[in-house]
Amino acid sequence: MLYRLGIRPLLYLLKPEPAHRLTIGLLGGASRVPGGLGLIGACGAIHDPRLAVDAMGLRFATPIGLAAGLDKNAEAYRAFAALGFGFVEVGTVTARGQPGNAEPRLFRLPADRALVNRMGFNNDGADAVAIRIAGQARLPVPLGINIGKTKVTPESEALDDYAHSTRALAGLADYLVVNVSSPNTPGLRDLQAVAALRPLLERVREEADAARPGGRVPVLVKIAPDLADRDVDEIADLALELELDGIIATNTTIARTGLATPSRLVDRCGAGGLSGAPLKARSLAVLRRLRARVADRVVLISSGGIETAQDVVVRMRAGASLVQIYTALIYDGPGLPGRLARGLLRELDRAGLDSVMDMIGNG
Ligand SMILES: Cc1cc2nc3c(=O)[nH]c(=O)nc-3n(C[C@H](O)[C@H](O)[C@H](O)COP(=O)(O)O)c2cc1C
Repeated sequence: MLYRLGIRPLLYLLKPEPAHRLTIGLLGGASRVPGGLGLIGACGAIHDPRLAVDAMGLRFATPIGLAAGLDKNAEAYRAFAALGFGFVEVGTVTARGQPGNAEPRLFRLPADRALVNRMGFNNDGADAVAIRIAGQARLPVPLGINIGKTKVTPESEALDDYAHSTRALAGLADYLVVNVSSPNTPGLRDLQAVAALRPLLERVREEADAARPGGRVPVLVKIAPDLADRDVDEIADLALELELDGIIATNTTIARTGLATPSRLVDRCGAGGLSGAPLKARSLAVLRRLRARVADRVVLISSGGIETAQDVVVRMRAGASLVQIYTALIYDGPGLPGRLARGLLRELDRAGLDSVMDMIGNG
């Protein structure tokens, strides 16, 4: 309520990107002052063992995580964990630092509870982000690190680019995500073709193992909602073949269908990925398709248009072990992870279940 009536209108006085920078700056700052994280936790974070999920050899405090892209440079992830997220994913990080696309590159579509972005992986680069993470205390919840290709790296050298980031970051991550699904780096999504994806995932696995002798960091792939069903099936089969730890489905879409926002306003945003409520149906359809193919042999993380506890339940019953949120946090504010957790507990009571894990694939 305070966020929606008080803080959000103030943030809306700013353009989306300065509002984003201000939020990250405040959260990052708050997490560095004594007592700051405790204050952030007062936003309503919920701790209840019935919400815990065991997956990929890790314990997630709740199945609700922060999606990649909000904390690209790992500046405020401790604050997001304190807000009550069960896990946090930083990045996308690329081998070399890069400025991303020209501004404006982030747009609000409030009538659709959606965003359009063409940020283009603006980030400090793998080595700088590694130093930043190494300098912070370990998170109480799993930390995912999402890696992508540097824009200027030619596609023929993509493997080396991802390999560099893997070497820099695998030792610091609880899990690693190979992002081949952002629409904002030219050619990136071509890496989803199995012929390109197989050697890429094999190389990342190799480098991750070398960076963590004696340990094994889970490796996941993040896919686009715009893949044809046949391509989704092929990636599912590849994941089984390579014994990949997980698939994150989905990233943002290049589609602009079914929007309430007038098309001239949508067109004014230009190219980029659409996120939020309009992504809900396709993201769920991709999840169902993956689950039908991999059953419980590959962990599925659902992302795209998740806004309510009911959405979380639907995704978990459809086979997701975990979910991730970005756009709903922008519209609903920092109390969202706590509200969703309380809603999930109510759903558990209603269904007579002892653990959210009992919902997974039980739809
Ligand atoms: C502004 C913005 C930036 C994003 N940046 C990244 C990114 O760097 N890497 C990535 O894998 N996904 C990125 N995403 C996609 C989100 O992680 C998420 O998969 C997607 O937005 C769907 O979830 P949502 O509907 O809850 O927002 C970004 C999304 C937004 C809105």
